[in-house]
Amino acid sequence: MLDFIIYLFGFIVVSIGFVTFFGAPYVPTLKKQVADITKIYPLNEFDVFVDVGSGDGIVLRAAADKGAHAVGYELGPWLWVISKYLCRKYPNITIYFGSFWRKDLPPNTTVVYTFLNGKYMPKLERKLQAHVDEHGKKISFITYGFQIESRVEKKTQGPMYLYEFKPE
Ligand SMILES: C[S@@+](CC[C@H](N)C(=O)[O-])C[C@H]1O[C@@H](n2cnc3c(N)ncnc32)[C@H](O)[C@@H]1O
Repeated sequence: MLDFIIYLFGFIVVSIGFVTFFGAPYVPTLKKQVADITKIYPLNEFDVFVDVGSGDGIVLRAAADKGAHAVGYELGPWLWVISKYLCRKYPNITIYFGSFWRKDLPPNTTVVYTFLNGKYMPKLERKLQAHVDEHGKKISFITYGFQIESRVEKKTQGPMYLYEFKPE
Protein backbone atom coordinates (compact mmCIF):
# COMPACT_ATOMS: atom_id res chain seq x y z
CA MET A 1 0.00 0.00 0.00
CA LEU A 2 2.83 2.40 0.94
CA ASP A 3 4.52 1.58 -2.40
CA PHE A 4 1.35 2.48 -4.26
CA ILE A 5 1.05 5.83 -2.41
CA ILE A 6 4.70 6.65 -3.15
CA TYR A 7 4.26 5.80 -6.88
CA LEU A 8 1.03 7.82 -7.05
CA PHE A 9 2.65 10.81 -5.33
CA GLY A 10 5.64 10.57 -7.70
CA PHE A 11 3.36 10.42 -10.73
CA ILE A 12 1.40 13.50 -9.58
CA VAL A 13 4.60 15.49 -8.91
CA VAL A 14 6.12 14.50 -12.28
CA SER A 15 2.96 15.34 -14.24
CA ILE A 16 2.60 18.75 -12.55
CA GLY A 17 6.31 19.44 -13.16
CA PHE A 18 5.90 18.42 -16.81
CA VAL A 19 3.13 20.99 -17.39
CA THR A 20 5.01 23.72 -15.52
CA PHE A 21 8.12 23.04 -17.64
CA PHE A 22 6.38 22.82 -21.03
CA GLY A 23 3.57 25.32 -20.47
CA ALA A 24 2.12 27.73 -17.94
CA PRO A 25 1.32 26.56 -14.40
CA TYR A 26 -2.32 26.19 -13.47
CA VAL A 27 -4.00 29.25 -11.96
CA PRO A 28 -7.75 29.46 -12.60
CA THR A 29 -9.60 32.51 -13.86
CA LEU A 30 -11.68 33.72 -10.91
CA LYS A 31 -15.47 34.08 -11.20
CA LYS A 32 -15.35 37.89 -11.28
CA GLN A 33 -12.91 37.78 -14.17
CA VAL A 34 -14.95 35.14 -15.97
CA ALA A 35 -17.72 37.78 -15.95
CA ASP A 36 -15.25 40.23 -17.54
CA ILE A 37 -14.80 37.79 -20.44
CA THR A 38 -18.53 37.69 -21.20
CA LYS A 39 -18.71 41.50 -20.84
CA ILE A 40 -15.84 42.20 -23.22
CA TYR A 41 -17.27 39.80 -25.81
CA PRO A 42 -21.00 38.98 -25.66
CA LEU A 43 -21.01 35.28 -26.54
CA ASN A 44 -24.01 33.63 -28.18
CA GLU A 45 -25.05 30.32 -29.73
CA PHE A 46 -23.30 31.13 -33.02
CA ASP A 47 -19.89 31.33 -31.35
CA VAL A 48 -17.22 28.67 -31.25
CA PHE A 49 -15.17 29.61 -28.20
CA VAL A 50 -11.69 28.14 -27.62
CA ASP A 51 -9.76 28.22 -24.31
CA VAL A 52 -6.05 27.62 -24.91
CA GLY A 53 -4.97 25.82 -21.72
CA SER A 54 -8.45 25.22 -20.33
CA GLY A 55 -7.54 24.18 -16.76
CA ASP A 56 -10.55 22.87 -14.85
CA GLY A 57 -12.92 24.20 -17.55
CA ILE A 58 -14.40 27.12 -15.60
CA VAL A 59 -14.25 29.45 -18.60
CA LEU A 60 -15.57 26.76 -20.95
CA ARG A 61 -18.63 26.31 -18.73
CA ALA A 62 -19.29 30.07 -18.68
CA ALA A 63 -19.09 30.18 -22.50
CA ALA A 64 -21.32 27.11 -22.83
CA ASP A 65 -23.86 28.72 -20.47
CA LYS A 66 -24.12 31.56 -22.99
CA GLY A 67 -24.95 29.01 -25.70
CA ALA A 68 -21.55 28.92 -27.42
CA HIS A 69 -19.85 25.68 -28.45
CA ALA A 70 -16.79 25.67 -26.14
CA VAL A 71 -13.54 23.87 -26.99
CA GLY A 72 -10.63 23.45 -24.59
CA TYR A 73 -7.05 22.19 -24.95
CA GLU A 74 -5.31 21.05 -21.76
CA LEU A 75 -1.78 19.75 -21.33
CA GLY A 76 -2.09 18.63 -17.69
CA PRO A 77 -3.48 15.07 -17.45
CA TRP A 78 -5.07 15.64 -14.03
CA LEU A 79 -6.66 18.90 -15.09
CA TRP A 80 -7.94 17.29 -18.26
CA VAL A 81 -9.62 14.48 -16.25
CA ILE A 82 -11.04 16.93 -13.68
CA SER A 83 -12.34 19.28 -16.39
CA LYS A 84 -13.96 16.38 -18.29
CA TYR A 85 -15.75 15.45 -15.06
CA LEU A 86 -16.81 19.00 -14.19
CA CYS A 87 -18.08 19.62 -17.74
CA ARG A 88 -19.77 16.23 -18.13
CA LYS A 89 -23.30 17.70 -18.22
CA TYR A 90 -22.50 20.12 -21.06
CA PRO A 91 -23.10 18.63 -24.53
CA ASN A 92 -21.64 21.80 -26.09
CA ILE A 93 -18.17 21.42 -24.50
CA THR A 94 -15.27 19.47 -26.05
CA ILE A 95 -11.93 19.21 -24.26
CA TYR A 96 -8.82 17.82 -25.97
CA PHE A 97 -5.85 16.44 -24.06
CA GLY A 98 -2.38 17.50 -25.18
CA SER A 99 -0.38 20.52 -26.19
CA PHE A 100 -2.27 23.22 -28.06
CA TRP A 101 0.82 23.95 -30.16
CA ARG A 102 0.39 20.56 -31.83
CA LYS A 103 -3.32 21.01 -32.59
CA ASP A 104 -5.35 22.94 -35.16
CA LEU A 105 -8.15 25.24 -34.02
CA PRO A 106 -11.65 24.24 -35.14
CA PRO A 107 -12.13 25.84 -38.61
CA ASN A 108 -15.27 27.70 -37.45
CA THR A 109 -13.62 29.27 -34.34
CA THR A 110 -14.95 32.78 -33.62
CA VAL A 111 -13.31 33.57 -30.25
CA VAL A 112 -10.09 32.42 -28.58
CA TYR A 113 -9.33 33.02 -24.90
CA THR A 114 -6.11 32.43 -23.04
CA PHE A 115 -4.61 32.91 -19.60
CA LEU A 116 -1.02 31.99 -20.41
CA ASN A 117 2.32 33.52 -19.53
CA GLY A 118 3.16 36.60 -21.65
CA LYS A 119 6.22 34.85 -23.13
CA TYR A 120 3.85 32.68 -25.21
CA MET A 121 2.02 35.64 -26.78
CA PRO A 122 4.22 36.06 -29.90
CA LYS A 123 3.95 32.31 -30.68
CA LEU A 124 0.19 32.35 -30.13
CA GLU A 125 -0.16 35.49 -32.25
CA ARG A 126 1.62 33.75 -35.15
CA LYS A 127 -0.56 30.64 -34.79
CA LEU A 128 -3.81 32.64 -34.71
CA GLN A 129 -2.84 34.80 -37.69
CA ALA A 130 -1.90 31.69 -39.70
CA HIS A 131 -5.30 30.14 -38.88
CA VAL A 132 -7.19 33.31 -39.88
CA ASP A 133 -5.23 33.60 -43.14
CA GLU A 134 -5.90 29.96 -44.00
CA HIS A 135 -9.64 30.09 -43.27
CA GLY A 136 -10.33 33.68 -44.39
CA LYS A 137 -12.48 34.48 -41.32
CA LYS A 138 -11.74 36.92 -38.52
CA ILE A 139 -11.26 35.79 -34.92
CA SER A 140 -11.64 37.73 -31.68
CA PHE A 141 -8.88 37.03 -29.17
CA ILE A 142 -9.22 37.67 -25.43
CA THR A 143 -6.14 37.53 -23.25
CA TYR A 144 -6.01 37.69 -19.48
CA GLY A 145 -3.37 40.07 -18.15
CA PHE A 146 -0.92 40.04 -21.04
CA GLN A 147 -1.03 42.36 -24.02
CA ILE A 148 0.23 41.63 -27.53
CA GLU A 149 3.01 44.16 -27.94
CA SER A 150 2.74 44.43 -31.72
CA ARG A 151 -1.04 45.10 -31.79
CA VAL A 152 -3.52 47.62 -30.44
CA GLU A 153 -6.35 46.16 -28.40
CA LYS A 154 -9.94 46.84 -29.47
CA LYS A 155 -11.30 46.92 -25.92
CA THR A 156 -10.29 46.28 -22.30
CA GLN A 157 -12.43 45.05 -19.42
CA GLY A 158 -10.76 44.60 -16.02
CA PRO A 159 -7.64 42.49 -16.73
CA MET A 160 -8.96 41.30 -20.12
CA TYR A 161 -7.72 42.59 -23.49
CA LEU A 162 -9.70 42.04 -26.67
CA TYR A 163 -7.94 41.88 -30.06
CA GLU A 164 -9.24 41.18 -33.53
CA PHE A 165 -7.35 39.03 -36.04
CA LYS A 166 -8.34 39.59 -39.67
CA PRO A 167 -7.14 37.78 -42.81
CA GLU A 168 -4.10 39.56 -44.28
C1 LIG B 1 -3.15 29.91 -15.97
S1 LIG B 1 -3.94 28.37 -16.31
C2 LIG B 1 -5.51 28.90 -16.97
C3 LIG B 1 -6.59 27.84 -16.91
C4 LIG B 1 -7.95 28.24 -17.50
N1 LIG B 1 -7.81 28.72 -18.86
C5 LIG B 1 -8.60 29.31 -16.68
O1 LIG B 1 -8.57 30.45 -17.15
O2 LIG B 1 -9.10 29.03 -15.59
C6 LIG B 1 -3.05 27.83 -17.77
C7 LIG B 1 -3.40 26.44 -18.20
O3 LIG B 1 -2.79 26.19 -19.46
C8 LIG B 1 -2.36 24.85 -19.49
N2 LIG B 1 -1.33 24.76 -20.55
C9 LIG B 1 -0.09 25.30 -20.53
N3 LIG B 1 0.54 25.08 -21.69
C10 LIG B 1 -0.33 24.38 -22.47
C11 LIG B 1 -0.25 23.85 -23.80
N4 LIG B 1 0.87 23.99 -24.55
N5 LIG B 1 -1.33 23.19 -24.29
C12 LIG B 1 -2.45 23.04 -23.56
N6 LIG B 1 -2.57 23.51 -22.27
C13 LIG B 1 -1.52 24.19 -21.75
C14 LIG B 1 -1.88 24.58 -18.08
O4 LIG B 1 -1.84 23.20 -17.76
C15 LIG B 1 -2.93 25.35 -17.26
O5 LIG B 1 -4.02 24.53 -16.95
